[in-house]
Amino acid sequence: MIIGFLGTGVITEAIIRGLYDAADYDDTILVSKRSTTRSAKLAGDYPKVRVVEDNRQLTKESDWIIVSVLPEQVCDVLSELDCRPEQKIISLAAGVSLEQLHTWAAPATDVIRVIPMPPIEHGLGPVAICPADAGTEALFEKIGTCVAVSDEAQFNLFGAASALMADFFDQVSGVTQWMSEKGLQTSTAARYTTALYHALADLTVRQSAEGLHEMSEACQTPGGLNAQFLARRNKLGTKQSLTEGLDDILARLESATD
Ligand SMILES: NC(=O)c1ccc[n+]([C@@H]2O[C@H](COP(=O)([O-])OP(=O)(O)OC[C@H]3O[C@@H](n4cnc5c(N)ncnc54)[C@H](OP(=O)(O)O)[C@@H]3O)[C@@H](O)[C@H]2O)c1
Repeated sequence: MIIGFLGTGVITEAIIRGLYDAADYDDTILVSKRSTTRSAKLAGDYPKVRVVEDNRQLTKESDWIIVSVLPEQVCDVLSELDCRPEQKIISLAAGVSLEQLHTWAAPATDVIRVIPMPPIEHGLGPVAICPADAGTEALFEKIGTCVAVSDEAQFNLFGAASALMADFFDQVSGVTQWMSEKGLQTSTAARYTTALYHALADLTVRQSAEGLHEMSEACQTPGGLNAQFLARRNKLGTKQSLTEGLDDILARLESATD
């Protein structure tokens, strides 16, 4: 099977590297000749990656097309192509609805939305899929944890949660910086904080959905350090800012897909 990527940006590179480096992928991948340095480097690094001159040629040669241009570019890019009825069209574009994709990719009807995350390069992270599709899940399960829903409104919840990345990195770097401002060598501080966040994240994936809600409570000994820290943060509105921030992103995604 041949997969063609329309758009050779950051996330295309992460997926391709994930497939060849972190998984056992062995099929041909075509990339469009945009971001020329990146596409040439991918073709240089992986013998099964081939750069194709233009989008029409890429469409002609591909069994599946992964649309990986910016959301505002999707309409123009897809509309000028002659997709085939049997071709699978997988869009990564945030906020571009299935209805829009069906219109622009017609006569192709096998249209799927996917939200990968950058750690996919290392075979890690959630891959949200809508609607559920066995073929798409089989591909992305090689390099991530697939979560498929058929309802696009539910899919937007994953889109909202995908906006948590910067906040997470801010927290890790904020704690590291706080330690180094208190006199600890930055490399020592970073070694501690990255191991801490990594280990805590690892604990969460070992929990059941119910167990997840008990983890915070379980480490809040009355009068203890964790209880004091969380109480202080909650007093400052941390919990509220989390849900309100997610509500804001969800509203933005929902208005984009109206
Ligand atoms: N980055 C993420 O973590 C992430 C995660 C999930 C979903 N997404 C979605 O994935 C899509 C791509 O994101 P990205 O971060 O990879 O963006 P990006 O790095 O800006 O890549 C966009 C790519 O599209 C290419 N392009 C623009 N117009 C084109 C055209 N007419 N024909 C072919 N290629 C064209 C650009 O080429 P030039 O450089 O030559 O202009 C570039 O290679 C977006 O819709 C985004 O919502 C991204």
